[in-house]
Amino acid sequence: MKNEELQFSNQYNIQWFPGHMAKTLRMMEQEIQHVDASLVLLDARIPLSSLNPEIERITARKPKLYALNKADLADPAVTEEWIRYIRAADAGCVAISAKSRGGTAAVRAAIEKELADLLARRQVRGMGGAKTQIMLCGIPNVGKSTFINTFAGSARAKAADRPGVTEGKRWVSTERYDLLDMPGVLWKKFDSRTVASNLAFIGSIKDDLLDVEELAMNLLDEVRRNYPELVAQRYKLEPSDLLLPPFELLETIGRKRGLLVRGGEVNTERCAIMLVDEFRACKWGRISLERPPQREDRDDFEQEED
Ligand code: G4P
Repeated sequence: MKNEELQFSNQYNIQWFPGHMAKTLRMMEQEIQHVDASLVLLDARIPLSSLNPEIERITARKPKLYALNKADLADPAVTEEWIRYIRAADAGCVAISAKSRGGTAAVRAAIEKELADLLARRQVRGMGGAKTQIMLCGIPNVGKSTFINTFAGSARAKAADRPGVTEGKRWVSTERYDLLDMPGVLWKKFDSRTVASNLAFIGSIKDDLLDVEELAMNLLDEVRRNYPELVAQRYKLEPSDLLLPPFELLETIGRKRGLLVRGGEVNTERCAIMLVDEFRACKWGRISLERPPQREDRDDFEQEED
């Protein structure tokens, strides 16, 4: 794996930080100085695990808005809790689906609210026509390209890299905004096993680096704790099946789906791939993998003082 820094001691110690991600972080350090604000896309199913501490550090210098994307895949009640939690920390936050125009309109309104003072000052100085420059960032696969497509609409077709701009970032302009689209970045070391597995479940870590059976078993184990009825419904399981050890549960689902090899054994690898694909495609139902921490632990979203 050329040019990639990879440590792979066990499934949940996985570190994936290719060279281009380090380069992106350096680019972000420079670009943040020139933009008005940043828009950080988080995955609504795992807002905390998709909060990249490196992005947090870099974007702390400017006004910031969080968008909980893929809210159409997450449990709406839990997403509401997250919005309250993040706003209680004085941070701007909206839940969106980047595929829908309603989502991008909500972001536009929230940016204008977040930057109200700056925009008013520009009006006073006769610079009301100046475009607002926003840096868009987030982990891989969080929906940045989709967001840009919906936000900019037809303008995107006209978007071109600015001359001299380093490969990997691009400006996309609309009538009132310049959006700086940055490639997705992870961070060097996931301190928690939960964060690493959550990122793997939603597909933000390259699947080739993962053992798919282990991934599927852990996913089943996690989801059956909070949404047992969804797993049971999808795979026509008995309540007692849900109590099985993970590998036996995987086999039971494989058997029910007829994923057998010669001799009648379950093809557990095929079953695991099917499970992960169906989870990611929301076939199990709308599921949140993380809930807001208790109030006393909640300094993750605290805005740094200027
Ligand atoms: P990135 O630039 O941050 O890497 O993410 P990208 O926009 O490529 O989105 C990654 C995947 O997530 C895409 O699916 C995209 O369609 C999907 N996606 C993005 N935003 C949303 C959302 O709000 N809701 C849902 N349900 N899906 C979203 P894909 O299967 O990789 O591609 P495609 O087949 O959909 O084109």
